[in-house]
Amino acid sequence: MQELGRLEDLPADYREALKAQNLVPLWPNLRAVLPPGVPRPRTRATHWSYEALRPLLLQAGELTPIEKAERRVLVLANPGHGLDNMQASAAMYLGMQLLLPGERAPAHRHTPNAVRMVVEGEGAWSLVDGERCPMARGDLILTPTGLWHEHGHDGDAPVVWLDVLDLPLVYYMEASYHVDGPRQATLPGRGDRAYARGGVVPTQVFQRSDKRYPMLRYPWAETRAALESLAADRPDLEAVQVTYVNPETGGDAENILGFHALMLRPGQTLRLPARSPAAVFHLIEGAATVQVEEQRFALAEADTCCAPGYCAVTLANASADAPGFLFVADEAPLHRKLGVFENRG
Ligand SMILES: [Fe+2]
Repeated sequence: MQELGRLEDLPADYREALKAQNLVPLWPNLRAVLPPGVPRPRTRATHWSYEALRPLLLQAGELTPIEKAERRVLVLANPGHGLDNMQASAAMYLGMQLLLPGERAPAHRHTPNAVRMVVEGEGAWSLVDGERCPMARGDLILTPTGLWHEHGHDGDAPVVWLDVLDLPLVYYMEASYHVDGPRQATLPGRGDRAYARGGVVPTQVFQRSDKRYPMLRYPWAETRAALESLAADRPDLEAVQVTYVNPETGGDAENILGFHALMLRPGQTLRLPARSPAAVFHLIEGAATVQVEEQRFALAEADTCCAPGYCAVTLANASADAPGFLFVADEAPLHRKLGVFENRG
């Protein structure tokens, strides 16, 4: 490939004349922004150990009262993006949030879409769009763009969850903001019960729901049962995987990031294709290794890791006796909407 001219090759007075007119020559940067064949991601394969971060998160509870933190979160920052940029990947933000008994977060809404994956503790709840969502290990709770939400904790031990947001993207678009609001009324009914069975949806005198987000809590007990039933029904399947969807439309649960759960059979190794979006893996139950090109991470329960796009990832169950269960978040809905999604096999 032809080497292109560098900025230093240009006369200083010419460079100054360009700068004075807010002009930049393209060719010195052309190969960086359009590299040959495959992007050069800043996202690095990174592993965050829950055992290592948990004491630091609990210490944050002692060091910083909730009034001084508003959200007591340790951000899982990818060193490839610079820790201060608080990004796990180009479009994903990850944070481990601690809520202590009796603490509350007042009602608010924001433009970034969020989900929380509950990591430990009992007794906490989120009220999203008037729907009360209890939190238990492995539950996925949506707080999509623009929906009012608040949370509280009536239990007696710390509660921790993993926040997954499209904040880096929405911030990059200069569209990120937050609004505080009045306490919400709790509405009757819960989407996780109304949509508890596959293949049927609630219907009011032949009228289907037209809510953009009809289901806000995906209980782990149901998702796990779906995976086990799929595994038992189809021993021939290579991947025992489900996707979190809007049960009315079958489309992605949220607009920008995609969410999945995956079961690794005892001893199973599963090779995932090289796809354009970056992905995050969080181990809900069991023990697994995640190999991202030449890097290999041993995940214990509640560990999280990320892989850049365009990389083949190999998942392996480290146990020969018990299944392993992973939560996966990726940027696939965004890539598909933008028309840049690729699966290179
Ligand atoms: Fe929020």
